[in-house]
Amino acid sequence: MTKKVLITGATMGIGYALAERFAEKGFDLVLCARHEDALKQAKEELEKKYGVCVCVYAVDLCDHEQLMHFYENVRDQNIEVLVNNAGIGFAGEAVYQSIEKDDALVDLNIKAVMDLCKLFGRKMCERGHGTIINLSSTGAFQPGPYIASYYASKSFVLSYSRAMAVEMKPYGVHVCCVCPGPVDTAFYQKSGGRMSAYHTSAEHVADVIMHRYQKRTVVVIGSLNQFLCILPSGVKMKFLAKMKHPKTDHGRK
Ligand SMILES: NC(=O)c1ccc[n+]([C@@H]2O[C@H](COP(=O)([O-])OP(=O)(O)OC[C@H]3O[C@@H](n4cnc5c(N)ncnc54)[C@H](OP(=O)(O)O)[C@@H]3O)[C@@H](O)[C@H]2O)c1
Repeated sequence: MTKKVLITGATMGIGYALAERFAEKGFDLVLCARHEDALKQAKEELEKKYGVCVCVYAVDLCDHEQLMHFYENVRDQNIEVLVNNAGIGFAGEAVYQSIEKDDALVDLNIKAVMDLCKLFGRKMCERGHGTIINLSSTGAFQPGPYIASYYASKSFVLSYSRAMAVEMKPYGVHVCCVCPGPVDTAFYQKSGGRMSAYHTSAEHVADVIMHRYQKRTVVVIGSLNQFLCILPSGVKMKFLAKMKHPKTDHGRK
């Protein structure tokens, strides 16, 4: 039977690049995101290019009812690999960040990841095989002044994934947490942050994930990022506070 991978947030950026890599490996794809047109386009492109079966679902994972409805639709599809990729971040001073935006961030970056890990993880444990890949960030390794909720959410993903990896290993289920540094995607435009001069492409991130996800519990992308992750948090926070300072008052809106 053809293996299936479920990728959240798969219409662009890292999610789309991963969909291409899994399709290259012969996986059938189950993809979700909010925008139906982008999903239809992704389905057309991927089916044409790789000859795999692609099922798409328009779902806002911030909405628990929609998430559960989505799960009911795909629960019996024998998902071999779950990729919790969809994520959002907002730059600006924490205290002036909009409550609605931070609520959505918690719902998507934390709550939806936890819910999908549980729902699909249980099925994988019962089957005795499967893999969960969670997208965190190098932001997980220290607090992030002027992007506080995003970094905190990614710390949660890292911590949760590492614990789950230990718990699920005896069942034959592997958990891998991926921590990219800056990646050139639409994420930055949407977050209101500035793209760092040091960045990589979504395609490169996907290549590294494919190479390492079966062997490692934590994958930090790039040797400079691996080095930065082990520096003391206090040093990095001072640097981040300067680098991410809004300089204008847009962070207060
Ligand atoms: N870019 C970076 O520098 C970077 C660095 C480290 C880690 N990461 C992490 O990597 C992951 C992917 O980032 P990216 O840069 O590829 O992001 P991206 O280009 O902004 O793509 C985000 C994807 O998630 C979907 N999405 C957003 N909100 C959603 C929701 N409420 N429900 C369902 N789908 C939703 C988007 O489609 P719709 O808008 O149609 O929903 C899109 O397909 C994220 O978890 C991010 O935190 C990114």
